[in-house]
Amino acid sequence: MDKWHSTLLPSAVEAIGQTPLVELSRLVSRAGLRGRILAKLEFLNPGFSKKDRIARQMIEDAEAAGQLRPGQTVVELTSGNTGTGLAIVCAVKGYHFVAVMSKGNSIERARMMSALGAEVVLVDQAPGSRPGEVSGADLALVERATDRIVAERAAFRADQFKLAGNLRAHYLHTGPEILAQAGCAIDGFCDFAGTGGSFAGCAAVFKERNPATRCFLVEPEGAAVLAGKPVTNPNHPIQGGGYAIPDLRFINRADIDGYIEISGMLAAETARELARTEGIFAGFSAGANVAAAKRLLDTELSGGTIVVLLNDSGLKYLSTDLWAVA
Ligand SMILES: Cc1ncc(COP(=O)(O)O)c(C=O)c1O
Repeated sequence: MDKWHSTLLPSAVEAIGQTPLVELSRLVSRAGLRGRILAKLEFLNPGFSKKDRIARQMIEDAEAAGQLRPGQTVVELTSGNTGTGLAIVCAVKGYHFVAVMSKGNSIERARMMSALGAEVVLVDQAPGSRPGEVSGADLALVERATDRIVAERAAFRADQFKLAGNLRAHYLHTGPEILAQAGCAIDGFCDFAGTGGSFAGCAAVFKERNPATRCFLVEPEGAAVLAGKPVTNPNHPIQGGGYAIPDLRFINRADIDGYIEISGMLAAETARELARTEGIFAGFSAGANVAAAKRLLDTELSGGTIVVLLNDSGLKYLSTDLWAVA
């Protein structure tokens, strides 16, 4: 069902998905590039990120399989966005939700989950880590705390790194929505990887439709382990991914046509450019994806049509130095 044409939805859960696809023609022409960038405004989901989709899918898959019982507590390790999605879905469906998050993530995320009724457990960062930047070592500490809480509460873990609902949300919805909205052939797709769920789900759909569509994984400069490079700088500000985890279970290597490295600085500059030139207020990883798409138009996919996801809202970074008053 197309939510824009229906008159009434039974809850915020049904408002997840069917986000607009917008052409970034101003940004492309200002950069003097040839081709098109089509951007999916995932920050218009109820929790202001694409992760609402996987939250809904993981919970509804678990309900359907009998793995999640009425009244059971739900727990997840989150950089904030999956947690916000789960907080929304759990509030509507009546589950208690515990979000376990690194103190390295921005405080807006913790406040929003708490406002949505979640219990938020903040985990100290590893020695040497910087506030505002979450490294693989920080993530390992959050993982340990999450395991402990799941065992103590006999909870259901909505594990975004393991549950197929993550990939399925993008395979069943995000990818097909893009194909229906674009109305033209898609030459390229590039996606900054956290769990790899959105890359895997969308790339699979695009290649099924047109095997010539080229799909690129985006990683932070200095932490491009998926591309097989050593980690020279694990700290970067692109929250939600770039954890330097070499094996992401959802990603089918056959769907990867290349790798693109984007620095934190370029991701931030591009997010600012997106706001100024297109009136689109999105976060760091959206900036990374658009920067990668620009690079493709400047090189091997010049003249082509590239699709990107704008993963979350710029509002989630008001406490960071992404937005300074000019
Ligand atoms: C803002 C943001 N960007 C990108 C990602 C990475 O998405 P995926 O886990 O589908 O690879 C996430 C994941 O949490 C995110 O929160």
